[in-house]
Amino acid sequence: MKTSLATTATGETPASWSPESWQPRPAAQQPVYPDPVLVRGVLAKLGRLPPLVTSWEIENLKQQLAAATRGEWFLLQGGDCSESFDDCESDAIASKLKILLQMSLVLVQGARKRVIRIGRFAGQYAKPRSADTETKGGLTLPCYRGDMINQSGFSAAERTPDPSLMLRAYERSGLTINFIRALIEGGFADLHHPENWNLGFVGNSPHAAEYTQLVHSIGESLRFMETLTGCVLADINRVDFFTSHEGLHLPYEQAQTRRVPRREGWYNLSTHFPWIGERTRAMDGAHIEYFRGIVNPIGVKIGPSVTPDEALELSLALNPANEPGRLTFIHRLGAAKVESRLPALVDAIQRHGRQILWCCDPMHGNTETTADGIKTRRFENIRRELELSARILADCGGHLGGVHFELTGDNVTECVGGAAGVTEADLKRDYRSQLDPRLNYDQAMELALFLPSLIRRPG
Ligand code: PEP
Ligand code: CO
Repeated sequence: MKTSLATTATGETPASWSPESWQPRPAAQQPVYPDPVLVRGVLAKLGRLPPLVTSWEIENLKQQLAAATRGEWFLLQGGDCSESFDDCESDAIASKLKILLQMSLVLVQGARKRVIRIGRFAGQYAKPRSADTETKGGLTLPCYRGDMINQSGFSAAERTPDPSLMLRAYERSGLTINFIRALIEGGFADLHHPENWNLGFVGNSPHAAEYTQLVHSIGESLRFMETLTGCVLADINRVDFFTSHEGLHLPYEQAQTRRVPRREGWYNLSTHFPWIGERTRAMDGAHIEYFRGIVNPIGVKIGPSVTPDEALELSLALNPANEPGRLTFIHRLGAAKVESRLPALVDAIQRHGRQILWCCDPMHGNTETTADGIKTRRFENIRRELELSARILADCGGHLGGVHFELTGDNVTECVGGAAGVTEADLKRDYRSQLDPRLNYDQAMELALFLPSLIRRPG
């Protein structure tokens, strides 16, 4: 893509950009709908429905990400590889909040940094796939691309992309975010009541004692401060939660791209933080064109094939004003490649003074398939990629600014390893993910307890 690399002021819409200017460009990973008239009807409806998030929230998140870019805050982003419509129910949503809250508490306490919580939820319904079709027993059908596009069952009716699913996805996202907001507003995240966030089986976890002790000591500190100051620390009752999803399905994203009164620019109001996936970040592709014009803070996944020149080009195309908080690189290089790839990427960005938040996704570069054909990730590799990333960034004069996990608050067996010792044989026991393997509760908490040693602020 020949993007104009001229500097634009913050919030200004770049020249020659519009919410549909991506359309003439090659758009990877898009479904082929049999009936374009139906698609147009659905998009027109989506374009009229109210936004799911507001520009105030988006700007607030951008400020916090700017603080993380300066090393003051830390980003915790996590959730399912792909949300499913069936999981849009109260317990599943509450447990996604609980695990992120518990992890963030451990991080705040251990790392002495404020934490930005971004869920991979309320919109993570479209997935990139390695093949367009799947063949079983001689029958070839379109692959499953996420609940926003088609269904996972293997029949022609289920696999044919159905545009009305975009409306169902928008509605499920709205229901999810409504429930999250209500829980938080109602005091669910109140630090005075961490018992709200307990997950049923925490007592059996190898990390239970450490976590319970930490919660107890936070409660003591709160009570001490309140006695000392004579007032309830009301601000502490509120925590922010932001939403994110891969901005893959461009017609859906475009339909929710709006102007708002008294602010410059175009906002994607379907989520706070959309990101570009590793498979759709081609410089001349439609996704880069769409993302360069919206004013949300955005992420771009970068895998081992990215070159330092490409990383620089991405930062210029997606953040021409070099605004801190605008652009996060979610690097997913893999434990085996991070040492040979990351230093040159960081060096190129530092030499040109580009503002980037470095957020390690230690999941997607460490996916492997067992001898039994099950997709998994090894806890050791995940932890190692985090450790190496933090060290490399610090050696280059930068810092690890965030982490991006695929996780669940449930005790599934999808990734192997960790203190609770999930083995390859256990993978068959409780493997629920339709797509990528997620960290379970124990594995996620083990990483949260480990991370402060990598990112702690002195003091
Ligand atoms: C994902 O985050 O689920 C994903 C597909 O990641 P990536 O774009 O890094 O491969
Ligand atoms: Co994934």
